[in-house]
Amino acid sequence: AAGALVAVAFAGCGLGGPAPVSTVGEVDFDTPLAIPPLADSTVDAAGTRVFALDARAGITEFAPGVTSDTWGFNGSYLGPTLVADRGERVRVDVTNSLDEPTTVHWHGMHLPAEMDGGPHQMVEPDATWSPEWDIDQQAATLWYHPHPHGETEAHVTRGLAGMFLVHDPEERALGLPSQYGVDDVPVIVQDTGFSADGRREAPARGYAGGLGDELLVNGTRGPYLEAHDELLRLRLLNASTARTYGFTWSDDRPIELIATDGGLLEASVELDRVVLSPGERAEVLVRLTPGERVVLRSEMSAEAAGMVGPVAAMNGNTDAFDVLEVRATDELEAAAPVPERLATITPYDAGEVATTRTFRLDDSFEINGEAMDMGRIDETVTVDTLERWLVENDTEVPHSFHVHDVQFRVASIDGAPPPPELVGWKDTIHAEPQREYELLMRFEDYADPDTPYMYHCHLLWHEDQGMMGQFAVVEPGQSATMTGGTDHEH
Ligand code: C2O
Ligand code: CU
Repeated sequence: AAGALVAVAFAGCGLGGPAPVSTVGEVDFDTPLAIPPLADSTVDAAGTRVFALDARAGITEFAPGVTSDTWGFNGSYLGPTLVADRGERVRVDVTNSLDEPTTVHWHGMHLPAEMDGGPHQMVEPDATWSPEWDIDQQAATLWYHPHPHGETEAHVTRGLAGMFLVHDPEERALGLPSQYGVDDVPVIVQDTGFSADGRREAPARGYAGGLGDELLVNGTRGPYLEAHDELLRLRLLNASTARTYGFTWSDDRPIELIATDGGLLEASVELDRVVLSPGERAEVLVRLTPGERVVLRSEMSAEAAGMVGPVAAMNGNTDAFDVLEVRATDELEAAAPVPERLATITPYDAGEVATTRTFRLDDSFEINGEAMDMGRIDETVTVDTLERWLVENDTEVPHSFHVHDVQFRVASIDGAPPPPELVGWKDTIHAEPQREYELLMRFEDYADPDTPYMYHCHLLWHEDQGMMGQFAVVEPGQSATMTGGTDHEH
């Protein structure tokens, strides 16, 4: 199977597959970075904060005067940023104005399986689905995107994705940059292709999926961000379907990482770069001096970014992009000092592990030798018990591994303690070739034997091919049942 994958990707070489891609030094940063609008909300009589998202088709001009057909929520591309506080009850009225079914999944959110927006919560055209839940997790940069089985890559590629920010009192008290779109800025990174006349086109697939030769940030091509503050907080989201990035600064200043998928680290760490595979997030701080310009870049080995040997070789084995230019104005607002201690992260006690499970990612886009079956529950987890998940990438290529409902901790990688950027809360991990990741997690609060959550590779084409499984969270002694009405062949 591995040989076949390489052949497919290699054939792509002369046929519009991943072309040599390095945009470093070539991007004209001539367009102000679009900031997704904050989603409007109302608070109903019961105190529930209510949002509305409408998935619809539209037309987007990525270059002036050149239109592309795209999809978006409440607009033509991407969606508004939802913001809520820990302790709030929220409802989102999700309307599907497309002419095919879709779903909306709240990536990183702790919530009941029925509200999760996975492939079992399809929203038919013209229907409205209204999940509601209590926000009960620490401040974090979460996101939302469709999850219809077999169609996720297509729906995300067309433009359906947005951010969901959670705040909590501890985080607010830190005095971190928090003016949305001013000093607290979403940075949604997606790769794509453009035709010669500037129309957006989905790139041809290599083994990882579609790898484009240009980037969009918040849907903007060639973006710059004018900064008026000496301290910026960038919320990086890799919303690409296949590519992994290694974010750096053009002048080699360190990346100051303060938060990972599930929230703040105990203290900031300085890194040469921060690696994000599809689905992962990072909050970073950047300190500016008046008038300076600095470019956020990505630099990876081509294979780590998602190319296989021959295509990687065509690219000189590097995958490098200019992402976003930050332009500091001549006068900058002073920022409050950043507290040394950002959060408290209590370690899990591995002695409490109740169940250990292994998830082997293989060359046939399967997990533990099986492709996703909507009618099969692969794992049954007892609510509120500690789980150890061993994720083994048995292939020669990178994948990513995402678990719904939970934020986990990385206990070890190949038996060694994780690097500082992976000691915090995570819901998605870059699974490098031939490595084993030991994850500890506890599924809390919500038992439902009838409705599964998903775990899967977040390279969306892999997910669509079936690199996904289902787990149900149950009360002690309960067994999972599927009443979902899908075909069940077991
Ligand atoms: Cu971001 Cu199951 O997905
Ligand atoms: Cu994969």
